[in-house]
Amino acid sequence: MNNRKPVTLHRLREMHAAGEKIAMLTCYDASFARVLDAAGVDSLLVGDSLGQVLQGRSSTLAVSIEEMAYHTGCVARGNRTAWIIADLPFGSYQESAEVAMRNATLLMQQGAQMVKLEGGGWTLPIVRFLVDRGVPVCAHLGFTPQSVHALGGYRVQGRDESAARVLHRHAEELAAAGAELLVLEMVPAAFARDLTKALSIPTIGIGAGVGCSGQVLVLYDMLGLGDKPRRFVRNFMDGGASIENAVRKYVADVKGGQFPDDALHGF
Ligand code: KIV
Repeated sequence: MNNRKPVTLHRLREMHAAGEKIAMLTCYDASFARVLDAAGVDSLLVGDSLGQVLQGRSSTLAVSIEEMAYHTGCVARGNRTAWIIADLPFGSYQESAEVAMRNATLLMQQGAQMVKLEGGGWTLPIVRFLVDRGVPVCAHLGFTPQSVHALGGYRVQGRDESAARVLHRHAEELAAAGAELLVLEMVPAAFARDLTKALSIPTIGIGAGVGCSGQVLVLYDMLGLGDKPRRFVRNFMDGGASIENAVRKYVADVKGGQFPDDALHGF
């Protein structure tokens, strides 16, 4: 068991100010929450990726708010100190800020300390509404899995200059609206590095290069259980004697800037 104090929003801000990288992993149940927390993971993301890795679906789109609330409660009961973020799933926030607040409430009642929602521009009033009512928000830009069909599949985002400009503007606007963290998924490493330098809030990369303020991976991918190879993933079970050791290595490599390696995992 680690003896660190609970990770709070204040602590995440301190880490960002000190240049300490934030190590995040997805987590969906109490047993893994206990192991990840003990291994020093700073933040557990109850991701709607559970639609793929737990439920065997081809996307996150069918995951319900009830399922997210159930898994958030499981994670919260196994966790002691890590900061818990839960995804608002597809359809649970797009309609209105009031609907988003009602569904964020369900997640927070189960132990989420922050909710994550995807997209920029149209999400600003929703982010403001939640933040004003005491709900910490993590934004998510770049490849946003809930828009997989609109985006034409799993594609790197922000490659050309005009797309990068829009992403940069959305990120600045989300920070100004009160988002406290920003997940950047599948964007060029150079873009993520420059945005991270310009932004007042931490960026958490997944396929976004080593220049982000922290990293997140889908737990099952970094344990080598993924169904397909992904460029931005490292299998931390290679040479690791146990899941806890693999997770400790992940935390050490994120904090030491040894993961990701942009030559191997970047775009
Ligand atoms: O649902 C999830 O696991 C996520 C990560 C890919 C960031 O949103």
